[in-house]
Amino acid sequence: MHVITESDELARYAGCAFVPTMGALHEGHLSLIRRAAELAGDGANRASVLVSIFVNPTQFAPGEDFERYPRQLERDIELAGEAGADVVFAPEEATVYPPDTPVDAPPLPPVATEPGLEDAQRPGHFEGVCQVVARLFDLVQPRWAVFGEKDYQQLLVIRAMVEQNPSRWGELEIVGERTIREPDGLAMSSRNAYLTAEQRQRALGLSKALQTAHAAQHPETAEEMMAGTLEAHELNVEYAVVRHAETLRPVSSLSLPSRALIAARVDDVRLVDNARMVRWT
Ligand code: PAF
Repeated sequence: MHVITESDELARYAGCAFVPTMGALHEGHLSLIRRAAELAGDGANRASVLVSIFVNPTQFAPGEDFERYPRQLERDIELAGEAGADVVFAPEEATVYPPDTPVDAPPLPPVATEPGLEDAQRPGHFEGVCQVVARLFDLVQPRWAVFGEKDYQQLLVIRAMVEQNPSRWGELEIVGERTIREPDGLAMSSRNAYLTAEQRQRALGLSKALQTAHAAQHPETAEEMMAGTLEAHELNVEYAVVRHAETLRPVSSLSLPSRALIAARVDDVRLVDNARMVRWT
C-alpha cells in the first residue's frame, strides 16, 4: 500500500478507479473500494484503485461538525488496503487549496439548488462538495469515481457536474453504489460514531420510516407514513419526502422512478437516509 500526500506524485495513477472520502472508513466505504477494484479490472491493463482521505473544510458550515469529524488516518490506510486500494492520497489542506492559487467552485447544476433538500438545509454545502470534488478530479484524473447512494443528492449533483463539463474530465464515469446497512437497518455513516446507545435506537427510525414508505401506493401517503414513524422515534425531521429519482423534483405518482429521502436529527446528530420506491406502473 502506497500513501502519498503530494499532488505531483499522482500523475502515475491517471486513469484509476477513484474513491473520494473524508476518512473514518466503515463498511460502506469499503464496499465503494471493492466496487472500484472491480472497475479497475485485472491482468496487464488493470487500473489502479486510489482512495483519497481529506476532511474538506469548505463543505461544512460554521457550527457544523468539521472539528469533531472523526479522524483515524492510520486505521483508514489499513482498511483501504484490505479492501483493495493500491494507494491512499491523504493531502494537507494547502495541497488541495494552495494559499496563492484560487480553486474554482464549478457552477452548480439544478439538482444542487432546486430540490429544497440538502441544498436548503445546508446552504453552501454543495458549493464546497463540488469545489473539492472538482479539484480532486483535476488532480487525480480518474477514469471512474465511486460514490455511495447514502448521500443520494450528492451523487446526483456530482454526476450532473461532470455531465456539465464534458471537456474537463473526459471519459470520467460516476458510479453509484448502494447503501450498506447494519443488521438492524441503520445506514452506515461516519456520524453514527456520535450516537449514544439510546440515540442509536432512536436513529433506527430513519430506516424504519423508509421501510414503511415502501408499502405506500402514493407519494403523499408515503410521506405521511414516514413522518409518523420519525415522530414516534422522537426525531427532529428536516425533510421526509418522495421525489423523482433523477431530478429530485416532487412527483405526483409512483409510476415515475421515485426515491424516498429523509434528513433528521437525533438531538444534535444529523443523519440522512434514502431508498428507492417501488414502481406502480
Ligand atoms: O461524501 C463524502 O465523504 C464527501 O462529501 C466527499 C465526496 C468525499 C467530498 O469531500
